[in-house]
Order: sequence, then C-alpha cells, then structure tokens
Amino acid sequence: MPIHSSLAPVIFKRKSTRNYQSTAVSPEQMEAIRTFLEQLVPLYPDIPFHAEILDAADVRCVQPWKTPHFVAVSTLDTPEALINVGFLLQQLDLFIQSLGLGSCWVGLGRSRKPAPEGLTHAILMPFGVAAEPVWREDAAQFNRKLLAEIADKPDHRLECVRLAPSATNSQPWYFVHAGDDLHVYQVIQGPLKRMTLGKMNCIDMGIALCHLAVTCEGTFALRQLEDAPALDGYSYIGTVAAQ
Ligand SMILES: Cc1cc2nc3c(=O)[nH]c(=O)nc-3n(C[C@H](O)[C@H](O)[C@H](O)COP(=O)(O)O)c2cc1C
Repeated sequence: MPIHSSLAPVIFKRKSTRNYQSTAVSPEQMEAIRTFLEQLVPLYPDIPFHAEILDAADVRCVQPWKTPHFVAVSTLDTPEALINVGFLLQQLDLFIQSLGLGSCWVGLGRSRKPAPEGLTHAILMPFGVAAEPVWREDAAQFNRKLLAEIADKPDHRLECVRLAPSATNSQPWYFVHAGDDLHVYQVIQGPLKRMTLGKMNCIDMGIALCHLAVTCEGTFALRQLEDAPALDGYSYIGTVAAQ
C-alpha cells in the first residue's frame, strides 16, 4: 500500500494543538492541504468517506476553537467505517503538523451542514496557525501506556502505536504476536464508557493502524483471520503483516 512514509518522523513529536491564532493559513498551505486530502490512502477502499474543509461558521463545537479552519468527515455508521476514518484522517493530522501548523481530533462537535446522503457525521479536525508550539521536544513528553501494557512481547515496531493519539487518551489497543504478524485488538469498554467512547475508540484503532502503516519499511496489510485467538475483554480487529 503506497502510504505517506515521509511523515514517519512527525509521529514521534506530534501533539494536539488547542490554542490557535484567528488568522487564516496561507493560500499555499491551504492548497497543499487540499491536495493532500485528495491523496489519502484508505484502509478499506470500498467504504465511502467524505471529507471537506469548512469555516468556523459551518461547525458547532462544545469547546471554543479560535482557528477559522475545520475538516469535517462523514462515513457509514459501522466500526470498519470509523476505523477507516482514523486511518485516513491521521495521515492528514501528520501532514498538517509537518507544515508547522496545529491540528486536533475533535469528537465534541459536528458540521452544521448535512452529511451526504447515506452517510453520518464521524469527526471534526480543527487546524490552523498555532498559538503554542505544535511539536513535542521528545518522547518523554508523551503521556502514554508502557509498551508492556499494549502488547504481549517487546516489539520496536509498536513504539509508533504507543505514541498514537486517542479519544481522552484512552489508548484502547492491544497487540498479540503471531510470528512476525500482529493480531490487533480493541478494548471492550464498560457500558458507561461505551456510550461516550465506543465510536471514538474505533477511530483510535484506525489511527494506531495508520501509524504502523506509515512507519513500516516494506508492506502493510490488514487481514481478517478466522482462527485468530479470542482475548478476554477485547474485540479482534484484524491481523497486520508489517515488515
Ligand atoms: C477520536 C478522537 C477524538 C478526540 N476528541 C477530542 C475533543 O473532542 N476535544 C479535545 O480537546 N481533544 C480531543 N481529542 C484529542 C485527545 O484528547 C488527544 O489526542 C490525547 O489526549 C493525546 O494527546 P496528544 O494528541 O496531544 O498526543 C480526541 C482524539 C481522538 C483520537
């Protein structure tokens, strides 16, 4: 899968930006973002995905966002479609930050415009000229689980997943080795958390898979195996072959 591997270094310094200037990004940068948006690589190519850049007047958010720019995404209301959204839009998050601009995933908001027929709103991503540093200085500034908490064995390939962003920093992923392949699991939240985090955690899983795809040096593929082992408290997402 031809994914944007040049973005790999951004994974190790990116962060959510919540403080913005109200100035618009330059026309050149906006053009680069629009072009990149058209070149996102899907995980599930057959699932419809609609992304558009909106002005602040076209979105409704719980938090105040000073930036004038938002990406609004709509898709099908299925776990696979939301995993696909995470996989696709994380490529944009990394690209925007590679330009020195800020961005943030936002579940607490939606577009005021109706989604295209058959699709539902999935997520927003405000982006723009930051009023704070857009990068972390080093990995110590990431507040994340340890590698031993997200996998059955040490594996340097998983550092990029460990640092991935997730809704409320919930980090819902777990990996089990099968030789060089990785069975991928998503934590099953309790009933209360499932109401707020259920859909967001599907997006998180797509973000994690995006980081794996961007950093693997050769091929990346996700397959569904009939005989993947069940893991108590987790649902099976698929098995990754990543060299
Ligand atoms: C699917 C998703 C939804 C999120 N929703 C919000 C949100 O509504 N508001 C917000 O301030 N941050 C939101 N975040 C950002 C997370 O809080 C943030 O990624 C996490 O705390 C890790 O911090 P970092 O991105 O700076 O590394 C969301 C992140 C994801 C992946």
